[in-house]
Formats: sequence, structure tokens, C-alpha cells
Amino acid sequence: MIIKIKNLLNKKNKKKLVCLTSYSKSISRILDKHCDIILVGDSLENVLYGMKTTHNLKLETMINHAKSVVSGTKKSLVVVDMPKNSYRNPREALKNAKLIMKKTKCDAIKIENNSLNLSIVKVLTKSKIDVMGHIGYTPQFKKKFKVEGKSKREEMKLLRHAKNIEKAGAFSIVLECIARKAAQKITKSLKIPTIGIGSSKLCDGQILVTDDLLGLSGFYPKFVKKYANLEKIIDKSVKKYTKDVKSNKFPKNINSF
Ligand code: KIV
Repeated sequence: MIIKIKNLLNKKNKKKLVCLTSYSKSISRILDKHCDIILVGDSLENVLYGMKTTHNLKLETMINHAKSVVSGTKKSLVVVDMPKNSYRNPREALKNAKLIMKKTKCDAIKIENNSLNLSIVKVLTKSKIDVMGHIGYTPQFKKKFKVEGKSKREEMKLLRHAKNIEKAGAFSIVLECIARKAAQKITKSLKIPTIGIGSSKLCDGQILVTDDLLGLSGFYPKFVKKYANLEKIIDKSVKKYTKDVKSNKFPKNINSF
């Protein structure tokens, strides 16, 4: 286990973990100053490529974005999402996880967990690949959005699943859109840190999609807090540029050779 992950585990119950997504060098350069974890999330298929699902993302696309992110990162732990259909069985998962690690030099990979892929976590961690799990709303496997863990039965099921993922060797686990009480129970029961998105403050850390937090994605569900309105800033800047070009104010001599 790499030192960055040991440091992360030591923060459990002491410091909140700050995590965000990035798909490029320019963004990860900024996030790196603040984040414990930078996730190259497969949400890039929605956010950058404008697709409705994350189901058709190519491994090669993920690797290219991850390379860009790693090149802009010095201290944060870079975790790369394995695209759907790149880990359908342990053999395929190992081959593709090794490829991601080798080509991108990232620190760890994340997989979305279902009831069938615990063996994949085991195989990867046995091969010294650090794995982050992901339960609750898992867009690669769930057809419809739903908050999970509201009933006692669901809460117990999620808790069992989380414990099994920890036992299989994962170093951390994302809890996506899980009810407060269930998130709290899971967080208290695990030794590894839980990273919440839409799962209340009762997790060890938080993650958001950076484009949502910056007001750029146009996707603002209840669990997102918009910390900026980049859409407005970009719109204003482009409007000004348009005006300057049309009125011959740009470029000036200082912008020319
Ligand atoms: O793909 C992604 O960005 C994610 C986060 C929302 C956790 O998986």
C-alpha cells in the first residue's frame, strides 16, 4: 500500500477528506492544492461528452484523461474510475486495471460495486492494486436514480455489502445517495474511510463533480452546492469578446506581432 493511502487511512475519525473530480491537467493543477483525492470519474462521459449515461466510455478515453490529470497533480491521490464493461470478470479487471496503472501512473482505481464483483476487489488488491469501492446509487449498474438505505432492510444490506468490500481489501468506499442514518452506520462500522456524495455529512469525506460545484454542468440536484457560477462568468466574457471582435477593439497592436 502506497504512503499516500496510509496517510489517508490515518485521517479516519480525525480529519474530513476533501475529494473532487477532474478530467484534465488544468483543473487538477488547481484542485491539487486542496484535495486529498482527485477522482478521474467516469462522469466525464456525461459532463464532457454530453452523453446520457456512463455506459459507453472507452478505456482509452479514460486513460487519456487520467494521464492529463496525473500530469497536473503533485500531492493528491489520483483515483481512476474503471469504465463499465472494462471489469466484467476478474481476469478482464486485472488486465485493464494494470493497463490503467501502467499508462497513467495513477495511484488507485475505483470500481462500482454490485453483488457479483467482490471477487474483483479481492483479485486486484491481491495484485497490489489499490481499490476504491462505490455503493448506493451506482450509475453503471442502476437503471433509475433512487436514494438507498431508507428502510432498515436496505440499511442492513448496504452495511453488509460495505463490510464485505472492506474485507475484500478496498482502501476506501464512495457512498452515493445513501440515507443519512445508513451512511452513519456504515461510516461507524468500517475502518476504511467513506466518501459521501449525496449521503450527508456523516461520512469521513465528501466528493462532488467539480463542474457541478463550479456551476458549469447545468446539473444541480439537491446534494450539490454551487460555489461559483462559471456559466455566467464565461457567458459574460464571451459576450465581451464578441463585442470587441465585431467593433475591431480586439486584437490591439499589443496582441499582434
Ligand atoms: O464518476 C464520478 O464522478 C463518480 C463520483 C460522482 C463519485 O463516481
